[in-house]
Formats: sequence, structure tokens, C-alpha cells
Amino acid sequence: MLSIQRLIEDIHSQLKPEFGSGKVADYIPELAKVDPHKFGIAVETIDGASFFVGDAEDAFSIQSISKVFGLTLALGKHGDALWRRVGREPSGGSFNSIVQLESENGVPRNPFINAGAIVISDAILAGHRPREAIGQILRFVRYVAEDEAIVVDAAVARSEQRTGFRNMALANYMKSFGNLAHDAELTLGVYFHQCAIAMTCRQLAKAGLFLANGGRMRSGHSIIPRERARRICALMLTCGHYDASGDFAFRVGLPAKSGVGGGILAVAPGLASIAVWSPGLDRHGNSQLGTRALQALAERAGWSIFD
Ligand code: DON
Repeated sequence: MLSIQRLIEDIHSQLKPEFGSGKVADYIPELAKVDPHKFGIAVETIDGASFFVGDAEDAFSIQSISKVFGLTLALGKHGDALWRRVGREPSGGSFNSIVQLESENGVPRNPFINAGAIVISDAILAGHRPREAIGQILRFVRYVAEDEAIVVDAAVARSEQRTGFRNMALANYMKSFGNLAHDAELTLGVYFHQCAIAMTCRQLAKAGLFLANGGRMRSGHSIIPRERARRICALMLTCGHYDASGDFAFRVGLPAKSGVGGGILAVAPGLASIAVWSPGLDRHGNSQLGTRALQALAERAGWSIFD
């Protein structure tokens, strides 16, 4: 039996000479302060084992990975009615693109591009004040990660609130089509705070476990129905890496969601949840070494869903 611990230690030492490669996101000024040489991997298997290596206990900004938790919550709240406001197709465009919104009447292609995630935040906000909606998202993440210490990094949220001009454009544009129920500013407040949740690889791997385990926590407690977990994973595979989703599926073969903080959460259905972190990004805004690490892990452990 292949030792997962040995495997991730191997990957860590193989990639070590390249730590720091890629480009740290700087369009959110607070993220530019992160040490580009950080690198961590954490694996949680559904049968109860935990493995980690490197900086897997350092908290980082989960950014777009939070869109997976936001979608899970919003589906719980609104069910399939949500799909009237957001699509389920890969966009083939960058994460913050506005172009398709014009011809597609303000309905974003999928819940993982920024426009789609903003609609999801708007859906979570229904019937609440922004502070309550943010609290709900944070409580959900703490619950699935089984860790009450997880917090929103207020400096990151403020930093994005000050500089998120594209997101403001996306939100206002969708509002003009009637696809935003609240003031753009309120919805974006929820979205920015959700993106600013800080987590370690270990916490993130734990939090993703319900997706690998048919919607259930390790304890057996059901978070979502199996069918919904399967569908969220399908969206992660097809849309989780924006215009690099096809390439990620080709190279890694696992449902996964990236974030500009340099994290990636990947799911090996029926087997494990994996979180990697390396802040240097490729030109699509996905972690460069994180993708390489997952490619090596999926290949050597035989975890690709296509194996
Ligand atoms: O809205 C943004 O631009 C960021 N809060 C999140 C973008 C992101 O993480 C894209 N992922 N690779």
C-alpha cells in the first residue's frame, strides 16, 4: 500500500527548488504581502487518516475556493430555483470577465466565475443583513472543517472592498438585468468577506471531505444529499479553474476549485479531500505549483476520477 505521507513528502521535496515561482496576486493589495515561497499539502481520507507536509498549518486567504461553500449553502437555501439565476456551463473566459453577461442577459455562466459567485452571495443574503449572511457562511465553513478558530481576515476583505472595481462593475451590470435582489454594495460586502476567509490546508482538506464522501461528514452526519455532492463536484471539474478547467481535468483529473490566494481544494470522490497552497499563480490565476503537486499526487496515488 502506497504511503500517502511519503508521497506528499516526495512531492514537497521535488518541487522545493521551484518554491516561489509564479506570480502572487497583487490586484488585491493585501494578498501581495504573502511570502511566495510558502508551500503546503494536506490530505484527509474518508476512512479517517490525515496527512500533511510543509506549510499546511499556515492560514491563507481561500478566495475563490469559498465559492464551493457559498454554492453549497445557497443550494440548501433555494434548491434548484438557483439555476434560474446562474448557469452550469464552463465560461471559457477569465474569472472576472464581463463579456458574456451582455449577450446572456446578466445570467452568469456558472457559480464559480466571479459574476456567478456574486449572484450566489446575493441569494445567501436573501432575508438577512450582510453581517448575518457572512456569519452563516463562516459558521458553515467552521462546521464542516470542525474548527471554530476559522475567521475572516478583515484586512483582506477591506483591501478588496477598496479595489474591487471589476466586481463592482459585474454586480451593477447584473443588477441592471434584474439578476441582483440587493444593492450591489451589500451583496459585494458578503462576497468579499466570504473570499477573505483564512484557512490552513489542514482545515480546508477537512472542510472538503463531505464532497468526497457523498455529502456526509466522517461522523456520518449528512450535510447535503449525495446527488448534490455529485453535482457540485461536476461543476468543480468543469468550471473550477475558469479558462484552465479543461487543462486541469486533463492534467489532474479531479474536481477542484482554485483561489487567487494560491490554494486549491481537490476532491477524490470516495477516497479523499486534498488541499494545496502555493501563492505563485499562472496566467489564469490558478496556483502554478499547486496544480503540479496535485498532478503528481493524482497520478502517483491513482486518484484521477478517470483511473
Ligand atoms: O473576486 C475576486 O477577484 C477574488 N475575491 C476571488 C478571485 C479568485 O480567487 C479567482 N481564483 N483563482
